[in-house]
Amino acid sequence: MSFTLNPPAYIQNQKLIDWVASMAELTQPDAIHWCDGSVEEYDALCEELVQAGTFKRLNPAKRANSYLACSDPSDVARVEDKTFICSEKKDDAGPTNNWMAPDEMRATLKPLFTGCMRGRTMYVIPFSMGPLGSDIAHIGVELSDSAYVAVNMKHMTRMGKAVCEVLGKDGEFVPCVHTVGAPLAAGEKDKTTWPCNPDVKYIVHYPETREIWSYGSGYGGNALLGKKCFALRIASNMGRDQGWLAEHMLILGVTDPNGVKKHVAAAFPSACGKTNFSMLIPPKVGFEGWKVTTVGDDIAWIKPGKDGRLYAINPEFGYFGVAPGTNNESNKNCMDSLNKDVIFTNVALTDDGDVWWEGMDGAPPAHAIDWQGNDWTPELGKQGKKAAHPNSRFTVPATNNPAIDPEYDNPAGVAIDAFLFGGRRSTTIPLVTEARNWTQGVYMAATMGSETTAAAFGAQGVVRRDPFAMLPFTGYNMSDYFAHWLNMGEKLTAQGAKLPKMYYVNWFRKNAEGKFVWPGFGDNMRVLQWILSRADGATDNGAEHFFGISPRYEDLNWKGLDFTPAQYATVTAMDKAEWQTEMGLHAELFEKLKDRMPAALEAYRHELEAKVNAL
Ligand code: GTP
Ligand code: SPV
Ligand code: MN
Repeated sequence: MSFTLNPPAYIQNQKLIDWVASMAELTQPDAIHWCDGSVEEYDALCEELVQAGTFKRLNPAKRANSYLACSDPSDVARVEDKTFICSEKKDDAGPTNNWMAPDEMRATLKPLFTGCMRGRTMYVIPFSMGPLGSDIAHIGVELSDSAYVAVNMKHMTRMGKAVCEVLGKDGEFVPCVHTVGAPLAAGEKDKTTWPCNPDVKYIVHYPETREIWSYGSGYGGNALLGKKCFALRIASNMGRDQGWLAEHMLILGVTDPNGVKKHVAAAFPSACGKTNFSMLIPPKVGFEGWKVTTVGDDIAWIKPGKDGRLYAINPEFGYFGVAPGTNNESNKNCMDSLNKDVIFTNVALTDDGDVWWEGMDGAPPAHAIDWQGNDWTPELGKQGKKAAHPNSRFTVPATNNPAIDPEYDNPAGVAIDAFLFGGRRSTTIPLVTEARNWTQGVYMAATMGSETTAAAFGAQGVVRRDPFAMLPFTGYNMSDYFAHWLNMGEKLTAQGAKLPKMYYVNWFRKNAEGKFVWPGFGDNMRVLQWILSRADGATDNGAEHFFGISPRYEDLNWKGLDFTPAQYATVTAMDKAEWQTEMGLHAELFEKLKDRMPAALEAYRHELEAKVNAL
């Protein structure tokens, strides 16, 4: 063995030490670095990344303590077709997941992982998903041969020594192994600043043994294993077994002018507005005294409390957010979060050492270096050449957010008053619909469709079913996941609990010219205010229709916005022919998931279909 193990004294967990030893034996790194999560360690690793050319240090007068990394063009997003749920039985992964038998997958991965870290350092990254010691939180340890991953994990999770102390001698952790899949021969140097394996990628989950193995990619959810792999795919399994929910949801707090605070959780698919909604600034006119605060922007872990209410924590500690489209108009809180301590990935570099992306405030720079290292000018932009990759992102600690919710680190979480679900749909789906009951809400979420985005590798703008915004993230059979949601509702109701109401929203309806009609962003507060009034018991401010209850024009607060009834009709109309097509797509989904589909959802689908046909 070329390395020495040498664990620091504060690591008392023999299972962890033994596992690291066995993984090091398999992957054969040159060195092992046990991450303590300190600022000194972060700075030193960033400096190493600068020396290696992976990081460019940004102009500190523009972005203090910030860096830019640009990835290999083959490694820019999650790879859903290379993501596997390797349960013992294929049916337990279900028809929406890629599956391979665990033995077969282990046999496939063994040769790939053998010696995969040669010439590199193995970083041992202990992290807590959730406030340290919270009984909703869980610990993971990621082994990675990427220093980029280590520094990103410092922003995205509670990481390092303090976690090992909570882990103690015999605490449980989820083992996560990650390699960029680019071993170096003796004396060989990297030929690129973003080592990865352009041809072979595997993002693998073993739900029964709660393990994650990731090969070949260094990007985002493929490599920062606390996020989608643990906090959604593995945690959804834990939640099903233990009676809680792991969801692709933002969590926000809303305080009204009387100081009354409520919390909502919202599931929108990747690149469909979670970060933006979680940092919403209410319109100045008409919403005086209203305030929105961010608990989380991407993932929620939700557990029933003793009082029967649902309590949510954000398992993450930072934001890995979409850069394009972010500006002071659309998301000022986010822009203010990005002044310091940021790792940017795949945005453009300006001549004065700052970053730029499509949709940033003001005029584009006269010249920049695009994410692939080429010269970029507005002229090239007009020809369709992007300066920043559409899935370019920033990584930043949540504590940078001026609108962070005071409860963000509360181990008990916040009580949820309403659930929102919403896709990116240019037609068919109205601005907002309230579900009449939990089952109908689960049906709405289960049949949600959305146009695909750059967050995942593959075609964009294609409408696909994305149940609960969890299509790529549910780590078991999707029909069983629906059943779990229905069961949670039944159990809590039986206990006499009042369940949060459920809403289906769509900010993305377009007109005949292909332009968004709804102003979105801060103006989504108008919809949020209506939702909160309903959650509070208002019943006389909506109209019933076949799908649920929606506000009439006069039911929304329009102060400070010129939005005509005709425009409102464009974002709320429900067309019979479109809905017949929509019901056909629901039927297709149900056909795919029929083996374990809960009867209550199938029954409601028939009821809805009859109502649409009778329109
Ligand atoms: P992930 O991090 O991939 O899970 O994405 P997300 O759901 O957090 O999406 P995000 O808030 O980053 O928004 C993605 C894109 O949608 C950005 O380009 C936004 O500018 C745009 N967007 C967000 N909210 C709205 C809205 O209300 N209306 C419109 N038209 N666009 C929006
Ligand atoms: C998403 O795709 O939903 C993300 C980004 O939040 S990633 O971490 O890459 O999954
Ligand atoms: Mn996401």
